[in-house]
Amino acid sequence: MVVLGIESTAHTASVGVVGDGAEILGLSSDMYHPPSGGIHPREAANHHVDLLPGLVEAALEQSGVNPRSLEAVAFAQGPGLGPCLRAGATVARVLALSWDRPLVAVNHCVAHVEIARVLSGLDDAILLYASGGNTQVISYGAGRYRVLGETLDVGIGNFLDKLWIALGGTFPGGPAIEAAARDRTNLLPLPYSVHGMDVAFSGILTAALELARRGADRADIAYSVETTAYAMLTEVTERALAHLGRQDVVLGGGVACNERLRAMVRTMVEARGGRSFAPPKRLCVDNGAMIAWTGLLGVRAGMRVDVERSAVRPRQRTDLVDVPWRDPSGR
Ligand code: ATP
Ligand code: FE2
Repeated sequence: MVVLGIESTAHTASVGVVGDGAEILGLSSDMYHPPSGGIHPREAANHHVDLLPGLVEAALEQSGVNPRSLEAVAFAQGPGLGPCLRAGATVARVLALSWDRPLVAVNHCVAHVEIARVLSGLDDAILLYASGGNTQVISYGAGRYRVLGETLDVGIGNFLDKLWIALGGTFPGGPAIEAAARDRTNLLPLPYSVHGMDVAFSGILTAALELARRGADRADIAYSVETTAYAMLTEVTERALAHLGRQDVVLGGGVACNERLRAMVRTMVEARGGRSFAPPKRLCVDNGAMIAWTGLLGVRAGMRVDVERSAVRPRQRTDLVDVPWRDPSGR
């Protein structure tokens, strides 16, 4: 079974062609870089409209798959920026109709989780999904992914991007902050904001900008922000392991590219006798392969959507969608 998947929820337009066992047969992506500041949804959507046809062609060519032998066309239905979502959904509908293939709607957050999970080979793990718009500690139960804890304000990636742009850098901020922080050791005081299983970042943003205003070194700020924010994520993840009696952690989402976060979670998990896993970086950030793979899981479980009912859902949460491909009594 082979499925083609289209990702277009935010900054990245991407097309993946994926087979059974999450074999990635083709993957072609292009990220929109705003000339300055943050992402303007309509400009990103225009980028996706311009690039998606070529990305579809490139991914199919890499895979060597004839479109008429695809099992389905999958697209990211939400959450995300409305104009960006509509660009990908429109391309997916056109392809499904012209190739006469079923259409499958995929939740973007669940897709981040599923690609990380299948590559990890860990079946009983707690999932830490850390990305641009989302920061969630997740566990599967009774047919859905359950959010055990999450950010109370912005997603960690959006927080890092906003901070870096305010410090004079460009989007995306996460990787640039990681590069700036490397080899630094000067830990500046920042608010540590954990509330039970939840976290918050806006207080750190305000405090970090105040440090900058008072002349603190940008690389020291980067190091201190990473140390504080990633320690918060590690703490809530450990609390989930302890309360649910689990051992293993799977990381997903763009911020899971970060070596510091990976190392902090690994240290915590290994001290408890468990294992941690993060996918290769091109599969942590937004990509069409995760949409195709989750679409494949959905098709296998009998999911498909009529074109007339395939409207995008900019606010569709992780815990609002059914995952019928998992054992309802499993965990
Ligand atoms: P969401 O999944 O919540 O919709 P998104 O789709 O916007 O978020 P992803 O591609 O999953 O985004 O993640 C992008 C985010 O990951 C950006 O905020 C970016 O700064 C961050 N990021 C990428 N690489 C790194 C890194 N090495 N360290 C920290 N953050 C990173
Ligand atoms: Fe994402």
